[in-house]
Amino acid sequence: MTNLYSAETHVFKINPDAPDLQVIALAAQILLRQGLVAFPTETVYGLGANALDEVSVGKIFEVKRRPFYDPLIVHIAERSQIEDVAVEIPDIAFQLAEKFWPGPLTLVLKRHERIAHNVSAGLGTVAVRMPDHPVPLALIKAAGVPVAAPSANLFSRPSPTSAQHVVDDLGGHVDIILDGGSCLIGLESTVLDLTSHTPAILRPGGTPAEALKAILPQLVIQSSPTDAQESGAKPSPGMMLKHYSPKARFLLFTGAGEEADSNFRKIIAGLLSRGCHIGLLATEEDASVYHDLNIEIEILGRETDLEEIGQNLFAKMRLLDKNKVDLILMRSLQSEGLGLAIGDRLFKAAEQQVMDLEAHSAADLLRTITDQIQCS
Ligand code: TXA
Ligand code: MG
Repeated sequence: MTNLYSAETHVFKINPDAPDLQVIALAAQILLRQGLVAFPTETVYGLGANALDEVSVGKIFEVKRRPFYDPLIVHIAERSQIEDVAVEIPDIAFQLAEKFWPGPLTLVLKRHERIAHNVSAGLGTVAVRMPDHPVPLALIKAAGVPVAAPSANLFSRPSPTSAQHVVDDLGGHVDIILDGGSCLIGLESTVLDLTSHTPAILRPGGTPAEALKAILPQLVIQSSPTDAQESGAKPSPGMMLKHYSPKARFLLFTGAGEEADSNFRKIIAGLLSRGCHIGLLATEEDASVYHDLNIEIEILGRETDLEEIGQNLFAKMRLLDKNKVDLILMRSLQSEGLGLAIGDRLFKAAEQQVMDLEAHSAADLLRTITDQIQCS
């Protein structure tokens, strides 16, 4: 079988609907021999290792350059496997698994002692999910062990939604990449903590909060460290870190109406006059408004189609980076449904700095930006 991309990493095309069992068997063997396998899921590509083996799991942290204190998600192939991974599982976890698995929902539970302790960064809890994708399901079954897998990107880079993104970040450092095409959801799973006094969303994701609230009316959304402190819930270990960032500086703008639109144009004009190479992530509707400007526009999807926008978000960020823009600009979107997860990723990519086009003048905002960024 041929190696398409790099000297050490083997990339295998695999049919996402009917995975080739020979390739799956090979990948499973690699996992059982302490190797790393990158695979597609319905959310983003994962970088998998045997969750029962500390040495294998250690390699994930090393390859991703991920801080050891940020714990990993364990993937299982059947609902009943939850009992191999967690203990003292509350009834609500089984109800949620019944309704949302396989799918983009991760449950934080009490850790089973057989799970390698570095999976959980030394915590007494473990995050578990059953992905809705035939490739990881077949792989986990063939390996016969639960599989720890974070997103298969370098630490702090946007999550990979295609095999090429994995090659770009980790090529040469993982044993094999299963290329099953683009990910359907494009945003990571929702992480739900069931070990706190009150169930809490630690990371909004592919399963909308509204769907969970229907079953868990007392659910809290703990999307920032400050909220976490105020609600008394414990923050997700990875929550305070810089995340999902493109290489270019990412600027997020809020505010609507004529004044905001006019300020946004003035800011772009100001940045262009300073020689900035500007990328804009835009909805289809916005793209047509800004097409006259000398900037690179990537269309995420229709304003009302958050699924399409979510699916494209990380890929388009990476594309603008490849085109070497100095800055990526984006205006915020609605926050219902998947909008909560999208907003969370944008906020983190912007390093938690949001520019309000209604509250400030274009001149003030431009000064704030140019104080921080010089374009070459
Ligand atoms: O969709 C996804 O969740 C993807 C695919 C590959 O399954 N995985 C993923 O993993 O996004 P990762 O490692 O990039 O993000 C895992 C998140 C982090 O925010 C981490 O802090 C949180 O889950 N997490 C993991 N274990 C935890 C635990 N025991 N307690 C609290 N948070 C935990
Ligand atoms: Mg990640």
